[in-house]
Amino acid sequence: MTRQMTLTTFLLPLGYHRNSWRLPGSRAEEVPGLEFVVSLAQMAEKAKLDAVFFGDISHANGAMRGDTMMNGFYEPMTVLSAIAARTTKIGLIGTLSTSFTEPYNAARQLAALDHLSGGRAGWNVVTSTDGFANFGIKQVPDPIERYRRAQEFVEVVLALWDSWSDDAVLADRAAAQWLNPGKLRRLNFEGEFFNVEGPIPGPRSPQGRPVIVQAGSSGPGKALGSAVADAIYTAQSLLPAAVEFAEECRGLISEAGRNAGHVKILPGIVPVVADTAAEANEIAHALGELLDYGQERLEIAAQLGIDIDDIDLDDRIPEDRFPAPERLSSRQNIFRSKAVDGGLTLRELVLDRARSTGHQWIVGTPSTVADRMQQWFDSGACDGFNLNAPYNPDGFERICSKLVPELQDRGIFRSEYTGTTLRDHLGLPRPNVRF
Ligand SMILES: Cc1cc2nc3c(=O)[nH]c(=O)nc-3n(C[C@H](O)[C@H](O)[C@H](O)COP(=O)(O)O)c2cc1C
Repeated sequence: MTRQMTLTTFLLPLGYHRNSWRLPGSRAEEVPGLEFVVSLAQMAEKAKLDAVFFGDISHANGAMRGDTMMNGFYEPMTVLSAIAARTTKIGLIGTLSTSFTEPYNAARQLAALDHLSGGRAGWNVVTSTDGFANFGIKQVPDPIERYRRAQEFVEVVLALWDSWSDDAVLADRAAAQWLNPGKLRRLNFEGEFFNVEGPIPGPRSPQGRPVIVQAGSSGPGKALGSAVADAIYTAQSLLPAAVEFAEECRGLISEAGRNAGHVKILPGIVPVVADTAAEANEIAHALGELLDYGQERLEIAAQLGIDIDDIDLDDRIPEDRFPAPERLSSRQNIFRSKAVDGGLTLRELVLDRARSTGHQWIVGTPSTVADRMQQWFDSGACDGFNLNAPYNPDGFERICSKLVPELQDRGIFRSEYTGTTLRDHLGLPRPNVRF
């Protein structure tokens, strides 16, 4: 069979293009209620996508500045549990930060989601860069420390997921034995950050363990992803850099002694789709008209951590305003490079960031967009994509009803689910208990 793409979607109900919620019909007043996100998840399932994905931001610092785009309106574990009850096949990937909770909590929550959904849970592991003050942490730890904690965090979670053997549950009425306690295992883990006795209070989950996704592209981020992830999310806007990133990840995965074919590399893409190029361009233009450049200036300055108050919208940000690349996160570097190497004016940078958040942005007919996706897929840049709907629900509906069928017609995306778990969709084996 032809190699198949993995397609997940980042559910951001207010839309991925900044201010797209202002469009009529956006259902913006329904956020953060359930029915709107359930309808998006059901749309994704009808299109046979591998999974829906919720990010998480554990603070309202952006919202305090008036920015709602990435605000954590939905707490991933609770909303995914609700969506689990209203869908049957689609994978459910949620973000939990290793900086703000304990591995014991995370292991229980994710195993529970896997049980409740019949094996559809996934965990996006992030270390977070903001919001520490909500957890009694005065100083944001440096990336090295955050990722050291993340490594240990994931190690403990994996061990907890394996703390019951698959045959621990007997439900033997005659013998009056629901379980065999001899098949449960203490961890007695003692580490730098965590001391965990274990086991967790519930059986091994349907997938053996939930799927692990990792979304940091810095050095320590890639090291973590290569060591533990089943899928890697990344922001890549240019093909050569995406190929380089994917090749580097595959090398690191092999070095970590794992099968690189079992790790899906999934860059984000923001497709604006219409039946004609002219109509797609019109939609893109209309989205751009919704921006508030005053607000976006504040956002760019906050994201890059630089002062741009004196810069005219039609001027470029001077190079010396930016910290050196090694002091910036991978995402900050994308915008630094667009401004410094790409020569974008502040106005162009605002528009670019508002559209893409650093991901690939493409406007066109289903066949134009599918051509680009197929080019990336065939050139080794990725194993599929995380689809970011530019606006909801219409922009996502177009992705599901126009773009996905085009990929199906080309034989590079499934027309039916062939399994029931997220691991099945990704073509990944169910892992054995390691102890
Ligand atoms: C698709 C995608 C989704 C992400 N989701 C989240 C998220 O929900 N919460 C979060 O704090 N960071 C999220 N991140 C950010 C990364 O986890 C990471 O903090 C960021 O990329 C900076 O780290 P880096 O320099 O290692 O890349 C996401 C990144 C990507 C590419």
